[in-house]
Amino acid sequence: MLILGIETSCDETSVALLEIKNAKFFLRQNLVYSQIKIHQKYGGVVPEVAARRHVEKIAPLIEKALKESGKKISAIAVTAGPGLAIALMVGVETARALSYLLKIPLIAVNHIEAHIYANWLPPSFHSNKNIFPALCLIVSGGHTELLLMKDHGRYKLIGQTKDDAVGECFDKVGKILGLPYPGGPAVAALAKKGNAAAIDFPRPMLNTPDFDFSYSGLKTAVLYYAQKPKNNLNFPKCVVTINDICASFQAAAFDVLIAKTAKAVKKLKVKSLILGGGVAANTNLQKRITNTIGQEFPSVKIFLPENKFCGDNAAMTAAAGYWHYLKKDFTPWQKIKINPEWELV
Ligand code: KG4
Ligand code: ZN
Repeated sequence: MLILGIETSCDETSVALLEIKNAKFFLRQNLVYSQIKIHQKYGGVVPEVAARRHVEKIAPLIEKALKESGKKISAIAVTAGPGLAIALMVGVETARALSYLLKIPLIAVNHIEAHIYANWLPPSFHSNKNIFPALCLIVSGGHTELLLMKDHGRYKLIGQTKDDAVGECFDKVGKILGLPYPGGPAVAALAKKGNAAAIDFPRPMLNTPDFDFSYSGLKTAVLYYAQKPKNNLNFPKCVVTINDICASFQAAAFDVLIAKTAKAVKKLKVKSLILGGGVAANTNLQKRITNTIGQEFPSVKIFLPENKFCGDNAAMTAAAGYWHYLKKDFTPWQKIKINPEWELV
């Protein structure tokens, strides 16, 4: 069977074709049109600009994805939320029209769930047994969440950010330091060359008994640091470099993420840890998670999505859609709605 995936929740227009044979995934197409260059000149995503680009790109991408398939599509899986309302609308309205015209069942996919299912995309994943209960750490531009996944489609929220998401914090720090949008990859690249112990930035909520996070204070700490005349990178006697600021900020951001994740792994006695979201592409985070969790909890399997499936893409939307397909969890074309604030649990 084939699932057509559609994703337009933010600044990537993406269409995928996922074939499922004997419960194994074979990704036939995953077309991703990134709008980063367009939004770069505004320093962030402008929703209306994003939606207009989605409108221009979505139909040609669908045409391209379906061109060589020749097979019948069994379902259309579309991101219905969370995300930017007018961006989501483009994908959902396109999916609605296709479902009506071609008489194909429609599946509304939650974007956070899609980030989790990015891990299922490599065919090798399917040989894994005893994954559940799993702890999912979702780290993206809009979310920082720890979720307990008891089985397919069964989630419990363990903790989340009280203010900014960790990816958003990277983006804001990038902006403070004059780096191009999105700040995440730019800050991560400079952090590789810096000294992580150079500046002792705060680790908000590190020792609180819950599993929540807070990133807005850390961002403000970087802002105040950069604003102090003696720390001005153009000041002749300034001893820190922009690389040191990035490395120290990144270390502070990840210390909290890793400590709370380790605490949740211990408390919930999970069998695996599943990462997802744009920030999961960060190699320093991947290494630190693998080392810390691997050493402290050697029996816990750690799943990191392939790099190309960390950021937004429709392949993961189709993968999440498959589990809903099995449960016949369809939404009639007349009823599907965007849900910009859609909480998974
Ligand atoms: O999952 P995603 O593509 O979109 C949302 O659903 O939000 O995540 C995008 C976020 C951005 O904030 C971006 O700066 C961040 O992921 N990001 C990174 C890295 N690559 C992307 N943050 C830190 N290090 C990276 N290597
Ligand atoms: Zn995302």
